[in-house]
Amino acid sequence: MIIAIDGPSGAGKSTVGKNLAKRLGYLYIDTGAMYRAVALKAKERGIEPEDEMALSQLVSSIQISFVTRGDETRVLCDGEDITHAIRSPEISRLASDISKSKRVREGLVEMQRKMGKEGGVVLEGRDIGTVVFPDADLKFYLDADPEERGRRRYREFSEKGMKVEFNETLKEVVERDRNDMSRSLSPLKRAEDAILIDSTCRSVEEVVREMCRIAHEKRRWSEIDYR
Ligand code: DC
Repeated sequence: MIIAIDGPSGAGKSTVGKNLAKRLGYLYIDTGAMYRAVALKAKERGIEPEDEMALSQLVSSIQISFVTRGDETRVLCDGEDITHAIRSPEISRLASDISKSKRVREGLVEMQRKMGKEGGVVLEGRDIGTVVFPDADLKFYLDADPEERGRRRYREFSEKGMKVEFNETLKEVVERDRNDMSRSLSPLKRAEDAILIDSTCRSVEEVVREMCRIAHEKRRWSEIDYR
């Protein structure tokens, strides 16, 4: 099956997506990391988010891949390990800005379709169920209250030893969502056939268990359909 998980930042898509993929024995693809990789390279090369020409050349010339070792997935760009470098607040903002670019989206969507076409994948992002795989077998829209999402991001940064203010983190989360939901190309929105899951006040384990149950049910039904 192809499983899509979309939703705003801090809703728990990565944690839940990784866990779900592990339990099902599926490949996990974090498409946000791909936009972050382009943002990092654009910053290193001094490319502005409005420079469509330069972004187009950039996205068609770089190689993004994921390597899973045990419980850890590393993000590589042209062989360089950028796992940590792409997680800063600055790259988060830049990735959101760059994701408005038509050429960047076209390039990354093509890569994502290639990576996921064989099935047995969990893809996580903003437009998976609406644009990348509109015919995905199973679609989830994972959401949570903005305050809770801000708290999760704040905890994540603090655990990494980064000095951030809670109010600033919350503001950034809300602003980035507004940016991602209001852009003209593939804005973040719930696909009509996506199952809405609210992760506020729920543990990772609870959410993953619910998704797993739905996935197993779906698989059972599709096996019956084929017979
Ligand atoms: O999931 P994330 O926070 O790592 O994503 C970073 C940014 O990338 C996000 O603010 C918007 C963009 N993005 C996108 O436009 N489409 C996707 N499928 C995934 C991410």
